Amino acid sequence: MPEKKQHVDIQRKIKLRQILLEKAGRLPGACYIPFIGEGDIAAALYSDKKIYGADTNKAMVKIAQGRLPGAEIIVADCDQFPFNKAVATFSLADFDSYSYPYHSFRSFFEGAKIGSQCVLIFTDGQRQAIIRSGNYRTPDGEKHSLKKITEKREAYNFYFTKVVIPWFKAYIEPWKILYITKYLRNGSICYWGAIIAKPGSHNNHINHKGDNGDIKPYKFDDIKKKGYLEHISNGHTRGYAATLVGISRATVCDHMKANSEFAAAVSESEADAIGKVTNALFEAATSGNITAMQVFLYNRDPVNWKDKRNIQLGGLDGGPVKVEVDAKGKLLGILNRLATRAGENKGDREPEPEGS
Ligand SMILES: C[S@@+](CC[C@H](N)C(=O)[O-])C[C@H]1O[C@@H](n2cnc3c(N)ncnc32)[C@H](O)[C@@H]1O
Repeated sequence: MPEKKQHVDIQRKIKLRQILLEKAGRLPGACYIPFIGEGDIAAALYSDKKIYGADTNKAMVKIAQGRLPGAEIIVADCDQFPFNKAVATFSLADFDSYSYPYHSFRSFFEGAKIGSQCVLIFTDGQRQAIIRSGNYRTPDGEKHSLKKITEKREAYNFYFTKVVIPWFKAYIEPWKILYITKYLRNGSICYWGAIIAKPGSHNNHINHKGDNGDIKPYKFDDIKKKGYLEHISNGHTRGYAATLVGISRATVCDHMKANSEFAAAVSESEADAIGKVTNALFEAATSGNITAMQVFLYNRDPVNWKDKRNIQLGGLDGGPVKVEVDAKGKLLGILNRLATRAGENKGDREPEPEGS
């Protein structure tokens, strides 16, 4: 990865990890850091733990070894777990791949000794692959190739909710997710992480430290609420946003009833999400997207547009249509041009002047 890009992302990557580490509390055990690169993340976050790291890039491994003297860092392909099973018991594994972390994760999960709770962190660039080329891999390792833009959009929109999360839940069974969080960079690269627990493990909670530093069972605290509101404003439903921050929908309802400020914040975040889509729709409409134009006009100016969907395009005496709705000058211009083109195609009259 070019240095600059990693530099831009690093703050966000570290923040996601800090949230997970805070939630997990001090777990005994070692860290597995495949794709360790020069060790930026490991040096910032894991230097107080025993680190087992690897990367295919020799020069980077050398730099990481210099920065993390107590760590065991080797040159190896991390798509296979590159250490002996008996080397350590792991409580954290950080898969900061360029784009596909799941070969590495599966081989770790099947080949390493893991403690009763484990923090898992992933960098997944498959959404970018979906929208750019249509060629991508699901976490089970299957390759897919999509050609139609509608298929790509569908796969892109639901990749995390309908593919990654259901696969992950099923794959780790009988382990359970205690906490899960994600961040989408530019809508395409997904940084996500989870804390998972073996069934029946004693410390089967995530930490919420009290004022005196002792550990209380997890609850819907301010960090969680902030995360919840972020997920809502990114367009997730109330129920799914609750799943993403690891609480039940009923808990959210209780907090909304008890706290009118929080309830208002939820509504505002929902309005935010609608605002984002409205802006995108307007952009698309004014850039000439016919469907977006229709949706915009049917909804924003129903008096003039709602019953006109099936009316044949044609103006007076079969001439070009003159658009009279003034939904911002730009949109008006585009619609007039379209109407004019329709008239021209019929070999009819002179086009109407733009913006008339
Ligand atoms: C996003 S960078 C990791 C940056 C790193 N986490 C840090 O904190 O500096 C991805 C790294 O994966 C390495 N890499 C790519 N494919 C690999 C593979 N199959 N096995 C091991 N390392 C690989 C690259 O050499 C690169 O250093």
